[in-house]
Amino acid sequence: TTGGLVDTFGRQATDMRLSLTDKCNLRCTYCMPAEGMDWLSRNDLMTADEIVRLVDIGVDVLQVRELRLTGGEPLVRKDLEEILRRVRASQPELPISLTTNAVGLDRRAASLRAAGLTRLNVSLDSLHSETFAALTRRPFLERVLRGIDAAADAGLGPIKINAVLLRGINDHEAADLVDWAIGKGYELRFIEQMPLDEDHIWTRDNMITAGAIRARVEERFVLTPDPRDRDGAPADRWEVRRPGTLATEPADGVIGIIASVTEPFCADCRRTRITADGKVRSCLFSHDEVPLLHLMRSGATDAEIAQRWRDAMWMKPKAHGMDHAGLGAADYIQPERSMSAIGG
Ligand code: GTP
Ligand code: 5AD
Ligand code: SF4
Repeated sequence: TTGGLVDTFGRQATDMRLSLTDKCNLRCTYCMPAEGMDWLSRNDLMTADEIVRLVDIGVDVLQVRELRLTGGEPLVRKDLEEILRRVRASQPELPISLTTNAVGLDRRAASLRAAGLTRLNVSLDSLHSETFAALTRRPFLERVLRGIDAAADAGLGPIKINAVLLRGINDHEAADLVDWAIGKGYELRFIEQMPLDEDHIWTRDNMITAGAIRARVEERFVLTPDPRDRDGAPADRWEVRRPGTLATEPADGVIGIIASVTEPFCADCRRTRITADGKVRSCLFSHDEVPLLHLMRSGATDAEIAQRWRDAMWMKPKAHGMDHAGLGAADYIQPERSMSAIGG
């Protein structure tokens, strides 16, 4: 058989998200328990060679058009530059992005850029050191801010910032985050908290919804829908104007709202995920994983690996069903792996 990664609902996955490690140097409360997790052992992780091979199969055989490297925290991999160099050498035109918490990025932004990284998204939930430390359980705000500046200096743009708002912790910071991001020229995206944490702290009532986020931002800014086509992206984009900026003038910035729970975008999903131990997940919320790494290590051909990957994506669920969770209909069941182990 030939062709790309299509599923029974007619979607085609062209956006490949590959997790490099399940480890992280932060402990965000909505993601991981304080003591961390039972990390994968080194031998379970894909090597640089194996990663390059999978990306090549994705791009050359399965019509993948974009690669995003995720974690855990991808900067935890010492060989990230090496991985990037090798993928880039094999795929000169492929857009390669990174989702990172930016800890340690100040020292590596330039080398990542030189190794072939195209752009990056940084997770940052608070601009106050105490709140940041409470949320991530690590006192690293200054380092993160230095990392983001270094990435901008290195030309790793456009930079997007991801923020999750938690009730009573950082939800009052929404407008401050917008103010900071538009001042710096970054695209801030607010993400609805999803029930993917190891500790199961998520509740529907506590989650700050997209509607509530907009209302908070509109206390200080004027929002108008971004006229650009959304084009399958998870973020619903809004132009932001400071009070006093006329609607006829250019916007002061753009923000996005990723309403995974209240306004799911599953129907337009283009993602295929590979976990750090080399398994295909057809969806962030799927319950089965299809191992490719084992297959690779047992001598399978590229065609065999590609077919296994197609088979895995054919099983992609229609939708996650969590928009109903807590509202009576129990069609959402949290996956066994937490967000960090799946890879954002
Ligand atoms: P861009 O190409 O820069 O827009 O990347 P992205 O938004 O796809 O990537 P990023 O890693 O920054 O992800 C941002 C957020 O999107 C994640 O934290 C999730 O909340 C959400 N997200 C990513 N993938 C999925 C998915 O498959 N399903 C759902 N529901 N949400 C997702
Ligand atoms: N809900 C929503 N977003 C989450 N992230 C991690 N855990 C969750 C969750 N439970 C986000 C991080 C990061 C991205 C990769 O995923 O904040 O920006
Ligand atoms: Fe680490 Fe990301 Fe999880 Fe925070 S959300 S603990 S930065 S993997």
